[in-house]
Amino acid sequence: MDTKTQSLMERSVAREKALSAMLMTYVLSGLVFMLLPGTFLGVWNLISISRLQALESITPGWIQAHGHAQIFGWVATFILGIGFYSIPKLRKMKPFPMWRGWTCWAMWTAGVLLRWAVTVWPWHWRVLMPFAALLEFAAFLLFFVTIGPAHSSTDGPRKPWDVWVFAVIAATSGLMLSLMLQVLETFSLARTGTSPAFPHEFDQRYLVVSTWGFLVPMVWGFSARWLPVFLGLRPMFSRVFVAALAANSMGVIAALLGYFAPATILILAGSVCAGLSIRILEPSLHKPKVVGVHRSFPLFVRLAYAWLMVAGVLGIWAEFNGQLSPGIWGASRHALTVGFISAMVFSVGQRILPAFGGMRVLASPILMFAGLALLMLGCTLRVSSEILAYQGYAGWAWEVLPVSALIEMTAVTLFAINLAWTFLRPPVVVQGPLAQLVE
Ligand code: HEM
Repeated sequence: MDTKTQSLMERSVAREKALSAMLMTYVLSGLVFMLLPGTFLGVWNLISISRLQALESITPGWIQAHGHAQIFGWVATFILGIGFYSIPKLRKMKPFPMWRGWTCWAMWTAGVLLRWAVTVWPWHWRVLMPFAALLEFAAFLLFFVTIGPAHSSTDGPRKPWDVWVFAVIAATSGLMLSLMLQVLETFSLARTGTSPAFPHEFDQRYLVVSTWGFLVPMVWGFSARWLPVFLGLRPMFSRVFVAALAANSMGVIAALLGYFAPATILILAGSVCAGLSIRILEPSLHKPKVVGVHRSFPLFVRLAYAWLMVAGVLGIWAEFNGQLSPGIWGASRHALTVGFISAMVFSVGQRILPAFGGMRVLASPILMFAGLALLMLGCTLRVSSEILAYQGYAGWAWEVLPVSALIEMTAVTLFAINLAWTFLRPPVVVQGPLAQLVE
C-alpha cells in the first residue's frame, strides 16, 4: 500500500471514530432526557393524578414539560445524532466540519433543558421560554444546512430516491413545523400569556404535529429502510407507502387547522396503509436477522405496529365520542408514544445503534427482551386503565395506573442501562455471523 492510500485510510478511520463518538454523545444525552425530565416526571405526574383521581390536579406545565422531554429531549436527540452519523454516508456527501455537529448538540440540549426547566419552574419565563425555543430552532437549522437537501452526492449521476427518503423528508418537515410553532407560541405567550404552559387548544394541535407529523413518519422511514432486511419481509408496496405518507400529512394539516374529525380518519387510514405497504403483519419471506439482539425482536416490531393501529382507532373514538374524552385522548397518545414509538426505538435502536457506535455489539439481548416485554405490559395496563379511570367507567382502575407507570419506568431504565453498557464496553472485532450487524 502506498503512503497516500495509507494516509487516506487513516483519515477515514479517524473520521469514523469521531462520528461514532458524536453519535454516542447524542444517544447518551437522549437517554438522560428520557429517564429524568421525561419518564421520572411522567411517573410523578401519573402518581399525583391517580392519588387525587383527577387529571386537572397537576399544572399543565408539568405535563407539557414531560411530553417535551420525551419527544424532543429523547427521540429527537437520537434522530439528530443518527442523522449526522448516517445521512452523509448514505448520500455519499463530502465530510462536514465536525464542529457543526457538536455546536448543534450543545444548542439543542441547552434549548431542550431550558425549555423543560422553565415550564416546570416559571422563573423569568417571559424571556427564557422564547430564548429556549429559538435555541432549539437554531440547532435544527444548523443540522438542516449541514446535511440537508442543499448537499448533493460527490460522485456519479443522481439515483432516484428510495421510498423511505420521502418519509424522512415528511418527518423533517414535521419537526421544522413543530419548532416554528413553538417559537411563535412562546413569543405570543411572553407578550400576553399568564403562564409558560401552552393553552389547551393550541397544545392539542401542536401535539398532533410533533407526534403524527414528526415521530410517526420518521419511524416509518426507518421501518422502510431497515425492516425488509432485518425481518426478511416481502418486497414493499412503494405506492401504498407514499399514499400512507400523503394521508398522514393531510391528517396532520387538518388537525393543525382544527378539523379533528377528518384528521383522525386520515391518520388511521395512513397508519393502515403504512402497515400494509411494509407488509409487517405478513409472514416473513427470509429468515430474520437477529444475530446480536434477542430473537423476539421481530415479534416486538409487529406488536409496535399493532399499537399504532390502536392509537389511530382510539383517536377516532375520542373525537366521535360526543363528550369530553381526556382519558381516551391520553390513551391514544400513549398507545402511540409508548406502544409504537418507544417500542420501535427499543427494538430497531438496539439493533442498529451498537454498530453505529463504533462496531459494538449489544451488551445484553436478555435485557433487551426484558425491557420490551415490560414496556408492552406497562403500556397495556396504562392505555386500558387510563380510559377506565379518567372517563369514570371503573374506579378501581385508578389503582392500576401507578403500577403501570412503575412498570414502564423499569422498562425504560433497562433500555438505558443496556445501551449505556454497550457504549461503555470496548468495541469488538466483527467477524463471522456478527458481521450481519454492520451490514
Ligand atoms: C414511561 C412512562 C410514561 C408515563 C408514566 C407518562 C405519563 C404521562 C402523564 C401522566 C401525562 C398526562 C396526561 C395523561 O395522563 O394522559 C402524560 C402526557 C404526555 N406524555 Fe407521557 N408518560 C410516559 C411515557 C411517555 C413517552 C415515552 C412519551 C413520548 C415519547 C410521552 C409523551 C407524552 C406527551 C406528548 C404527553 C402530553 C403532553 C401535553 O399535554 O402537552 N409519554 N404522560
